[in-house]
Amino acid sequence: MKDRNKAVKVDLKNNVAILTLNNPPVNQLSEAFSREIDDAINQAFQNQEVKALIITGTDKNFIAGADIIQIKGQKQKETVMQLVLENDRFLNGIEEGPKPVIAAINGNCLGGGLEIAMACHYRIAARGAKVGLPEVQLGLIPGGGGTQRLPRLIGLPSALEMITTGQTIPAEKGEDRGLIDEVVSSDQLLEKALKAAGRFISGQVNHQFHITRNRYDRLPSASEKKAVLGFFRKIVTKKARGYIAPFKAIDAIEQGLSYDFQADIEAEADLFSDCAISEIAKNLISIFLNTRAAGRLPQIRTVKPNKIQKVAILGGGVMGSGIVNLLLRYGFDTCLWDINEEAVKKGVKTIRKTFSYAIKKRKMTEKALDRLMKEHFITTLTLDELKNVDLVIEAVVEDINVKQDIWKRLESICRSDVVFGTNTSALPITEIASVLGDPGRIIGLHFFNPAERMQLLEIICGKETSDETLSTSVAFAKKIQKVPIVVNDGPGFYVSRQLTGLMGEAIFLIAEGAHPASVDEAMLEFGMPMGPAALIDLTGIDIGYHVSKNFERSLGERWRMSPLYEQIYRAGCYGRKTGAGWYDYSGEKPVLNQKILDIVDTYLKENGISSREMSNKEIVAQMLARAINEAAYMIQEGICDRPQDMDLAMIYGTGFPPYRGGILRYADVWGINNVFEQLLKLEKEKGIRFRPAALLAEMAETGKSFYNG
Ligand code: NAI
Repeated sequence: MKDRNKAVKVDLKNNVAILTLNNPPVNQLSEAFSREIDDAINQAFQNQEVKALIITGTDKNFIAGADIIQIKGQKQKETVMQLVLENDRFLNGIEEGPKPVIAAINGNCLGGGLEIAMACHYRIAARGAKVGLPEVQLGLIPGGGGTQRLPRLIGLPSALEMITTGQTIPAEKGEDRGLIDEVVSSDQLLEKALKAAGRFISGQVNHQFHITRNRYDRLPSASEKKAVLGFFRKIVTKKARGYIAPFKAIDAIEQGLSYDFQADIEAEADLFSDCAISEIAKNLISIFLNTRAAGRLPQIRTVKPNKIQKVAILGGGVMGSGIVNLLLRYGFDTCLWDINEEAVKKGVKTIRKTFSYAIKKRKMTEKALDRLMKEHFITTLTLDELKNVDLVIEAVVEDINVKQDIWKRLESICRSDVVFGTNTSALPITEIASVLGDPGRIIGLHFFNPAERMQLLEIICGKETSDETLSTSVAFAKKIQKVPIVVNDGPGFYVSRQLTGLMGEAIFLIAEGAHPASVDEAMLEFGMPMGPAALIDLTGIDIGYHVSKNFERSLGERWRMSPLYEQIYRAGCYGRKTGAGWYDYSGEKPVLNQKILDIVDTYLKENGISSREMSNKEIVAQMLARAINEAAYMIQEGICDRPQDMDLAMIYGTGFPPYRGGILRYADVWGINNVFEQLLKLEKEKGIRFRPAALLAEMAETGKSFYNG
């Protein structure tokens, strides 16, 4: 048989055509690749010698999804519909074809890949291969019959769970549920797939009885269907506020699962197309692509990172222990240093605690943890013992003298190429580095709490940080599965200043008469995981106060704090840790704290301000205008220069709603001119804190946006 192309290799064995897909890097489906597969399948269908077909992938991938860049660029619903229906014809061709087709799932079988596999007549998978329909995570629904075929194979509740969350499962679980017919070890995959083909060829099994669209045995009755869909709609309403895809997926299933498969597929295509042209899908797809590209900075493209195996961590407190968890999980030899025996003991205990969730969820055993710590973890009280490490991360108390003293001592102990990463919340990196002979080796590695779970790593370059140090830090961040966002030194770096600029506006709104509950409600409705009052109660009103004081000191007039903040701080209710802050936590459910409400009331009375009703829209407009302006100031000051990274930082570091795309994407959609006008209006009404950055004025004048600057 002739190989018509490179991406699909065809071999003939025992009357079986084996189609091996090899479209690097991940066998992603594109229009052209699908056509190649389609051509190869049709050729095999026409070839008299071929009695059955096997489709398999290469390396770790069967087919890891479809080309989302193609979808991202679509603006017209009709064009998307055409693309989707064309793909449906391709899948129908497999399913209703004249010969049995077996999917031999060697690795990731996701999205469009699983949809192909479900159109096949038999699915055999290598142990551990991942299968799933993750489309909702990109703001889409499965558009290649996934919403119609999956429930037929695994039943409605399991299918809804997988489709509305985008959850992927290992092949073994897929076998339990009925999605996969057989799971084998990867080295036996092809041999067993050929055996399965043999059973079809010999007539032992008839492929006409393995057509997924003709299966009804696992579908619910009309009343069951209604109940299950109602149940899932409730869950999705709670969990996916602001998103549309999970709802559309439920719609597709509700309208579908009938005896008219073609009509159901067309309804699915219609709903898919609605999602594909939505702003939400475009935002989520951008986030996915930008996350993949994070850390690919032009200045370090050719700079080779250091090889790292042994890492020292200084300080086993809240942050240090979380970082050790990461180091151990990702295969580094780790040495914990702390000031005394007691601190080390406490650190080790906290480190073990960071694994308790994984142990509870049976992702790890106590024994495995013991082994991991025995083989890869040591402690020391002596800095001299760190002379063989490849990287040092410091997470000791937030005191510049303490930090500088430690680095000075380590400079004469560690090899000169060893990078020194400091996990400070706000101390200036350039100043910390100033005490070293080679300040280029110091960099800020700002982890977020809890370090073992938060995906963001804010990497801060001081004035002298070298490209080698940066390159090593970015490569290390990726090794521990963090999203590295690189910024320059400045007060609060990027995230803390941006978050304070956004959420800090709440206190001004309250001081202007808005009710604290309505400010929280507006931001929750906007999509933030917490309202400003609930958030500050969690981090601590005292901490927030000091952070804001620092900003006031370093950034001046524009950052002058509201006098109301001072009064609330003096009340001594610092939030959850003291039992009450904006909310009182002594009862079953948090309620607004009367003591703070009284302080607000008195403040308003003394200043002749009456309380006022504000709509969510008004509140959001004021808070976001302030935040966007602050972002523009930071770009102008050279703290950051990549809008896509700034947006990722807020999404991964603070839970800014992903479907909004980030603060700067939000600004572009709002329209820079509108943002600018809003700022001018607010400046006139409320003063200097809304003074627009020169950059915004210029952007408004020249019609530029953040993303298309
Ligand atoms: P922590 O109080 O939990 O731990 C501090 C560690 O420093 C302890 O291991 C302690 O034994 C050690 N230490 C105390 N005095 C010392 C001294 N004189 N010399 C050397 N080590 C000393 O503090 P946490 O929260 O882990 O913070 C550590 C660093 O991480 C700080 O710079 C903090 O600003 C920063 N950070 C904290 C975040 C948080 O949410 N807790 C978030 C991001 C950064």
